[in-house]
Amino acid sequence: MNVNWSIERYDEVHSTQDELKALALKGAGEGQVVTAKSQNGGRGRHGRVWVSEPGNLYFSLLLRPSCGLNAIGQLALIVGASIGAAIKELVLEPDDVSLKWPNDVFLGGKKCAGILIETELDSNNIIDWVAVGIGVNIVRAPKEIGAALSDYALSDIKIEDVQQSILNEIEDRYLQWGAEGFAAIKAEWLSMAHPVGTPITVGAGKHMARGTFHDIDSHGSLILRDDEGQVRTLSAGDVHIQE
Ligand code: BTN
Repeated sequence: MNVNWSIERYDEVHSTQDELKALALKGAGEGQVVTAKSQNGGRGRHGRVWVSEPGNLYFSLLLRPSCGLNAIGQLALIVGASIGAAIKELVLEPDDVSLKWPNDVFLGGKKCAGILIETELDSNNIIDWVAVGIGVNIVRAPKEIGAALSDYALSDIKIEDVQQSILNEIEDRYLQWGAEGFAAIKAEWLSMAHPVGTPITVGAGKHMARGTFHDIDSHGSLILRDDEGQVRTLSAGDVHIQE
């Protein structure tokens, strides 16, 4: 078994997510990839803008897993662990790579890559397709909060090589997930993430929960231990690590 990646390359698109979704609606198969040198409407999680100038990596890939929507949390962590593993191979200090729930990839404590997962369900609420959008800062990154891979790299970085190695790592874990389930990938994700006991806030807008990171559950949701010692399971939101 393998995933046959088939890559369509563009100079500029609005968003690789939109191009990929159009192909999915026309029946494109699992493994379809759309990549662009720049995007004029790149988007991030929670409707944020993802600035997409030439020099960084922007692509979206299509998966058609046979599972329900409750497995999407696992898929987010599978993709995060895969990018983390790919980037570890390219940098001088692999320990500089870390993950933040649900799927941000950090280098030296600053965000280096982001993942946007969008899904379409069929009439029986089963996943029809999943568009996984990936942006990696290769040569430029937002000031103060972002890291560019080339600043941490062992040697000259080629965008196509970074993309290919991410695709290879995703393929490995996606097939492992199908064959063995989530447990080993969850363990790998935890080995790269904020340690248990890290003070965090989780949520969006006014609905923030405070406490310490406790674990990831079998669906990929975050388990928080709040200040009263109660554990709470959260399936969505941003994590902020408290210094
Ligand atoms: C995030 O961290 O908020 C997710 C960022 C995802 C950005 C990528 S770039 C390729 C793909 N196309 C988009 O419009 N967004 C994703």
